[in-house]
Amino acid sequence: MINSDENITKIINFIKEKTGIDINQDKFKKFYAKKIEQIIKEENYNNFPGLYSDLISNKNPDLIQKIINTVTINETYFFREEEHFRIMVKNIIPELMKIRPQGETINILSAPCSSGEEVYSILIHLLENPHLIRERDFMIIGIDINTSALEIAKKGIYTKGSMRAVPPHLVSKYFIKEKNFYRIKNSLQEFVSFENVNVRDKYSMKRLGKFDIIFSRNMFIYFDEHSRKETIATFYSMLKPEGYLILGHTERIPETSEMFVKQKHKNSIIYKKR
Ligand SMILES: C[S@@+](CC[C@H](N)C(=O)[O-])C[C@H]1O[C@@H](n2cnc3c(N)ncnc32)[C@H](O)[C@@H]1O
Repeated sequence: MINSDENITKIINFIKEKTGIDINQDKFKKFYAKKIEQIIKEENYNNFPGLYSDLISNKNPDLIQKIINTVTINETYFFREEEHFRIMVKNIIPELMKIRPQGETINILSAPCSSGEEVYSILIHLLENPHLIRERDFMIIGIDINTSALEIAKKGIYTKGSMRAVPPHLVSKYFIKEKNFYRIKNSLQEFVSFENVNVRDKYSMKRLGKFDIIFSRNMFIYFDEHSRKETIATFYSMLKPEGYLILGHTERIPETSEMFVKQKHKNSIIYKKR
């Protein structure tokens, strides 16, 4: 049904508008066309105009969610780009503790969190620095657009691949080994929460509140320029004064940005709200 280039372009543009994800025709044909055809069949569509009209009018949220789950790349693992977490506990949080009023919670957002490894990596680094959690309360929220990834995050059950960068003494401290899986200890789950939110939906984003630190790693690499710019502006508006935005190692904010000051720490670049 979506085999003409014209129809494929329409679907690609719909995905870009909705999520920010920019997929070219070749990649779409190679990786996604078959899977999306299958979803369309399951949802009982038999002509493209009917399908397309339901997509753009948001008439079938289930269909849209299935397409989103198909085109999002959820690769992640615990302690990925670990230097960021070390900078968080050594530099960012001590600095914020000095300027935030006594008793104010430090709010941290992981957007996107995929299956939750980033959220738990943040938490484990905090727990490994008890002087920080003795002094302050922390709130950690993970959001993602992919509902299958979020199900894993909520269950907290991971495969060996996700654990590849976690030092063995921390594996035994924070996880329970079950056959071929590793389950995050229940006591950790109560410190974090996960929500299905699209970063392109400004209203839902702002409803999450204001944050001291936003991690947004390895999502912008899939976005088009316009969506990237708009989402950076959304993050800016969600950060408290002098809050920090942390992107993936290959992602950058344009040098000309007046929203953030770039800070270099060893091999990492982080961004502080002006
Ligand atoms: C490669 S993972 C990165 C996960 C983690 N931050 C890390 O660096 O390991 C990219 C995630 O971005 C999510 N994503 C893509 N577009 C999104 C959007 N518009 N809103 C929220 N999440 C999105 C995908 O579902 C996927 O889980």
